Amino acid sequence: MKTRIAIFISGRGSNMMALVEAAKAPDFPAECVVVVSNDPAAAGLEWATSQGIEALAVDHRPFGKDREAHERAIDTELRARGVEFICLAGYMRILTPWLVTQWEGRMINIHPSLLPKYKGLHTHERAIDAGDAEAGCSIHWVSAGVDEGALIAQARVPILEGDTPDTLAARVLTEEHRLYPAAVRDILTKM
Ligand code: GAR
Repeated sequence: MKTRIAIFISGRGSNMMALVEAAKAPDFPAECVVVVSNDPAAAGLEWATSQGIEALAVDHRPFGKDREAHERAIDTELRARGVEFICLAGYMRILTPWLVTQWEGRMINIHPSLLPKYKGLHTHERAIDAGDAEAGCSIHWVSAGVDEGALIAQARVPILEGDTPDTLAARVLTEEHRLYPAAVRDILTKM
């Protein structure tokens, strides 16, 4: 039986696309049952629909400051669909402890740095400014602290002379698209 996963996005969703493409392999241990976004305008939602996957926007704005209420609304939708595992893929909202606890051990994230370096935003700019020789991406379990959960996998790329945050981001992104499906396959095969 394939694990029923939800993929959370906030924007273009290229990591979501990599996961969905990987999940087309008959032996991939997961099927994507829904793509969730807090932003109804997220470009990735349209692509998910084009693939025959349900695209669900749960706009955070009507919930105002009540982040937990927003997450409870999402959680209800996930449970209604029998979702068993969550992959955060460019989901740009900090989760409340409530959602993290609900999905502990069943929710992972991809972050564009070699954690524990550069938690949070502007990771590529910070790596270049620090004079680092390499950058990369990390897959980790989601825990209460932002970008602090136990590491699952990392991929490294060199930082080259003349790199800008954009050129470095593109190099890292190529690795993200390879690493995330591989990590999901690995985790779910063992679960
Ligand atoms: C990716 O680089 C991902 O690692 C990063 O946002 C980008 C989303 O791109 N995630 C974070 O920064 C999470 N804090 P995508 O929408 O094309 O997958």
